[in-house]
Amino acid sequence: MAAPETLDAVALLKADHRKVEDLFAKFEAAKGDGRKQALAEEICMELTIHTKIEEDVFYPACEGKVDEDLLKEAYVEHDGAKVLIAEIEAGGPDDEFYDAKVKVLSEQIEHHVKEEEQRVEGIFAQARKAGLDMDALGEELAARKQELTEEFKARGVPEPQLKTMDEVSV
Ligand SMILES: [Fe+2]
Ligand SMILES: [Fe+2]
Repeated sequence: MAAPETLDAVALLKADHRKVEDLFAKFEAAKGDGRKQALAEEICMELTIHTKIEEDVFYPACEGKVDEDLLKEAYVEHDGAKVLIAEIEAGGPDDEFYDAKVKVLSEQIEHHVKEEEQRVEGIFAQARKAGLDMDALGEELAARKQELTEEFKARGVPEPQLKTMDEVSV
């Protein structure tokens, strides 16, 4: 078997961002409930894996190196996304608010991705400037990603774990 392609951490995370943006664009253009649901499920799976590898591997490595407020906001933004992901997973295209939830999720992710990728000020730029070992982190992210992909494909996407919010019932 060929050696898996190794990307540095930022390249790997950016590739995930591009993939999800593409899936959101496909969802927006999609016709038919089956196609929409398949795309929404793929979006939820990709985002669940992506947020988890960032929270398990990348963000902890950024502690003390990246502006603390920005990092805290990133965790809260992830949790906001997870709430919508759980809603989308639990629902289906015949729900009144299904498309709206996917759209709002895409807008939230767009904002969050900007905060990560922004030049100079963004999380990735700050982390690189601080000298994080992006090759080693890239390998760690890739390994964790593969593990989670196999697990979720076998058992489905689990209920999201919120890091910054207490569960509220309204
Ligand atoms: Fe990200
Ligand atoms: Fe993120």
